[in-house]
Amino acid sequence: MTAASEPAGTFTAAFGRPPEGVWAAPGRVNVIGEHTDYNEGFVLPMALPHGVRAAAARTDGSTVRVVSRQEPGEPATFGTDAEPGSVTGWAAYVAGVVWSLRSSGFELGGADIAIDGDVPAGAGLSSSAALECAVATALAGLFGLDLEDAELARAAQRAENEFVGMPCGVMDQMASMSATADHLLFLDTRSLATEQVPFVPTAHGRTLLVLDTRAPHRLVDGEYADRRRTCEKAAAALGVRMLRDVTSDALPGALSRLDDEVQRRRVRHVVTENERVLGVVRRLRAGDIDGIGPLLTASHASLRDDYEVTVPELDTAVDAALAAGALGARMTGGGFGGCVIALVAEDEAATVLAGVRESFARNGFAEPAGFAATPSPGARRLS
Ligand code: GLA
Repeated sequence: MTAASEPAGTFTAAFGRPPEGVWAAPGRVNVIGEHTDYNEGFVLPMALPHGVRAAAARTDGSTVRVVSRQEPGEPATFGTDAEPGSVTGWAAYVAGVVWSLRSSGFELGGADIAIDGDVPAGAGLSSSAALECAVATALAGLFGLDLEDAELARAAQRAENEFVGMPCGVMDQMASMSATADHLLFLDTRSLATEQVPFVPTAHGRTLLVLDTRAPHRLVDGEYADRRRTCEKAAAALGVRMLRDVTSDALPGALSRLDDEVQRRRVRHVVTENERVLGVVRRLRAGDIDGIGPLLTASHASLRDDYEVTVPELDTAVDAALAAGALGARMTGGGFGGCVIALVAEDEAATVLAGVRESFARNGFAEPAGFAATPSPGARRLS
């Protein structure tokens, strides 16, 4: 992330006075536990060094004005009582957080906010959660709201679900709020209990590469909502609250009780994915970083074959990374485009990236981007 001085400069240029403070929240990459969060299962994301900063100050009155370095133009302006549907575009994420906090009973006055972000947009690295969490943290700071990280994450998720209209789970917002440097965030999305699991791949001569396929997102929201509905129907058919309640021992019996082949595949993914998260956590606690590789690759196969959320670019990136020597690789995030992660030996990172690039060129895909992911801090006040 760039320094606090940049959003502060944008703030001063737009509003003619300095901000009261600058707050930041990161994007995330999920190491494993995909499409488990809305089934109340387990996830294991980390925060990225990329994020969103919000420079902000209170005003008299009840108007919020917000500018963004990435979206030059007049400030987006709305009242603190703005209802869902009344604000659209990027400012809806900001208005959604104001709405979410107010409808939970918190008193907010007017505010001026300047946003600055460097999470690659459309790459599935949670630029929207970073924006929501930066704004939530800034508002909590400005108005002295006494809220835990998990409560701010829930408020941000509600903004996205009910104001923006994307039925996401809580993983991205929890990662953005609660992740810490040098750790993965092991999260039980039912209880929101967390454990910080040490993860410093370079201490083992390893790197976690993030490969942005730059594949255009296709049908993302409709497909996502569809997966979520299928899981809820399957849980109801099995007589459990959520698919989280199906253990791996109970999986064969559960599958035999479902008539619908699509439901059977979705259930098998969720149950085996939860098991893989626990397997990765066990291995990392034991210091066995290479041991997580096969679980990452198995997660991808399950997302491709059972959950059906991959696209050719994601499958090609995973296959090419493995062929070039990666210890494990998988798509990360919601799917239908976005990024792949690959666990690689540090001295082979360039070879793996080159292998993926070559394979993309052969297939006529856009050139992928790559960077090494460093587990970074969650939301905080910068100045
Ligand atoms: C998106 C959602 C998350 C989660 C992932 C899939 O990133 O925002 O809540 O469901 O997809 O794991």
